[in-house]
Amino acid sequence: MVSQALLPENDPIRPGGSTPIGITVDGKPATGLTGQTIAAIMMAEGRLSWRRSSVAGEPRGLFCGIGICFDCLVVVNGERDVRACQRRAVSGDAIEFQHDELPGVAG
Ligand code: FES
Repeated sequence: MVSQALLPENDPIRPGGSTPIGITVDGKPATGLTGQTIAAIMMAEGRLSWRRSSVAGEPRGLFCGIGICFDCLVVVNGERDVRACQRRAVSGDAIEFQHDELPGVAG
C-alpha cells in the first residue's frame, strides 16, 4: 500500500481550506492537516505499522480503517487504546505506541 498526503487543491471532492497542524509521533514531529486522522498523518509520514500483536509480535497498523478491528491502537496524550483511524488529530497531540502482552504470556 502506498499512501501520500493529498493537497486540498488537488482533492477532487474540494474539501475546503485546511490548516497545517503539528503532532509528535513517538517523540518525533509530524505534520498533517486539520481533519486528518492520526492514522492518516502517520501513513502520510511513511509509517505502515505502529504496534505489535500481543501473541506473535506481528506488526499492526491500519487494517479496517473504520473503527472495527482495533489494530491501530495508540496512546494519545496519555490516553490509551485510542483508535488512530477514528481520532482526528489536534495540533500538539502527542502520539505514542502501545504494546500489551497478554496476561501470563512471557514476552
Ligand atoms: S484500523 Fe481497524 S479500528 Fe482502526
